[in-house]
Amino acid sequence: MPVALITGASTGIGNALAKELARRGWAVGVVARRGELLAALAEEIRAKGGKAAWAVADVTDRTAIRSAAVAIAGELGAIDLLVANAGAGDPARAHKVPVEAWIGTLRLNVDGVIYSVAAVLPEMVERRSGHLSVVSSVAGFRGLPGMAAYSGSKACITTFFESLRVDLRGRGITVTAIHPGFIATPLTAKNKAPMPFLISAEQAATIIANGLEARRSDITFPWQMKLLMGLAKRVPNWLWDRVLGRVPGV
Ligand SMILES: NC(=O)c1ccc[n+]([C@@H]2O[C@H](COP(=O)([O-])OP(=O)(O)OC[C@H]3O[C@@H](n4cnc5c(N)ncnc54)[C@H](OP(=O)(O)O)[C@@H]3O)[C@@H](O)[C@H]2O)c1
Repeated sequence: MPVALITGASTGIGNALAKELARRGWAVGVVARRGELLAALAEEIRAKGGKAAWAVADVTDRTAIRSAAVAIAGELGAIDLLVANAGAGDPARAHKVPVEAWIGTLRLNVDGVIYSVAAVLPEMVERRSGHLSVVSSVAGFRGLPGMAAYSGSKACITTFFESLRVDLRGRGITVTAIHPGFIATPLTAKNKAPMPFLISAEQAATIIANGLEARRSDITFPWQMKLLMGLAKRVPNWLWDRVLGRVPGV
């Protein structure tokens, strides 16, 4: 039975993905800060005949996420797949100079992902087998209004994973960057701005699981958002600023 470690699985995409992978025959280790939600998720998976273990850890604490990974590997077996999914980002306009919020977002979305990778990679390198994935975002393709730290963190981690992919080529380790568009989760529930092509966490989990099982290097979805952001990358700065400057709500 292959083993997946998913961070940020107490709610949203990580939670739905844990259930989807368990349904497909994966043993799933789930990590977040809220233990009661993880315990309920593991119980739900076990009740359906699946295999699950959970551990509380803050991914910005390097020792804590490493200990969680070791504990989960001890319970379920060597970790085959990491889904570094824990992440967040509160909208904040730049003129307010929200330095603490910016740094907090970078610590979670960048440091937290790096510590999660570091928690599982040594054994993967040793075994010459494994799969690293990160839940980045289409928000990293261009700078979005009110999302400087969030867009910046996601661009950073996408590029970081691209380098990992090149570095780990030939060592038996697959590397995947996942770029969702808008997904209905607690993260987006507080959004005031429009959310085109919004899909459910369950739909997202199916798409992500399909892409991971196919060992794709990039999973960008839904297709409408992939198309839109592909075009957005080509839009000149003056037009981007004029159009995005009108987006309400942040
Ligand atoms: N929803 C979208 O539209 C969308 C689009 C693109 C990308 N994403 C990305 O998808 C990922 C999951 O987001 P979501 O939408 O599913 O939001 P969510 O429901 O708020 O889930 C975020 C998860 O991260 C965990 N988390 C937050 N801080 C943590 C920390 N310091 N240590 C450990 N776990 C922590 C939370 O659990 P605890 O609070 O229990 O720790 C929760 O399980 C994020 O990386 C997000 O940027 C989301």
